[in-house]
Amino acid sequence: MSISPMQAADLDAVGQLYLDAYAVKDWSLEGAVRYVKKFFDFEPERCRVVREEDGSITGAILGFTFEREKGMTLFIQELIVAPSARNRGYGKKLVSALRESTSHRGKVRVKPLVKADTSVLNFYNSLGFERDKVVSFTIED
Ligand SMILES: CC(C)(COP(=O)(O)OP(=O)(O)OC[C@H]1O[C@@H](n2cnc3c(N)ncnc32)[C@H](O)[C@@H]1OP(=O)(O)O)[C@@H](O)C(=O)NCCC(=O)NCCS
Repeated sequence: MSISPMQAADLDAVGQLYLDAYAVKDWSLEGAVRYVKKFFDFEPERCRVVREEDGSITGAILGFTFEREKGMTLFIQELIVAPSARNRGYGKKLVSALRESTSHRGKVRVKPLVKADTSVLNFYNSLGFERDKVVSFTIED
């Protein structure tokens, strides 16, 4: 496997990977590709994929950066690894490759978007991330 910058030609594969990684049954591939494309178009240089020898894509990370008064933040919108390729260190390597892409910017705060799902919390804990005090609110009409 290798980790490489995501290309526009990877959009369909990453959309399918999204559906597989979250075991989504009630959404279309078209919808998933539209979602992935939104963030890919936002900052393509902050998107990476895991490419296997046969060309298939088994992992992806979609990030973007922004700068505020306290410096640079690297936001991780999505980190997805195919169920059949988990526990091989791909998730960890994708986070590390994304962080390297901003290492020339000095100190960067890295913030993954995480649902209160214990296994993902454990994943980020194992990479040294600490839970912060941000609370999320939702309203649905
Ligand atoms: C979370 C996810 C990306 C992890 O990918 P992965 O490639 O299996 O993770 P890695 O193999 O790189 O694991 C890295 C470390 O986290 C640990 N880890 C991975 N998944 C874990 C889990 N579910 N629970 C606890 N620890 C976990 C591993 O043991 C490993 O620790 P180590 O370095 O001490 O051995 C993957 O399970 C996934 O795609 N989940 C569905 C999508 C999702 O929820 N994404 C996160 C939203 S941002």
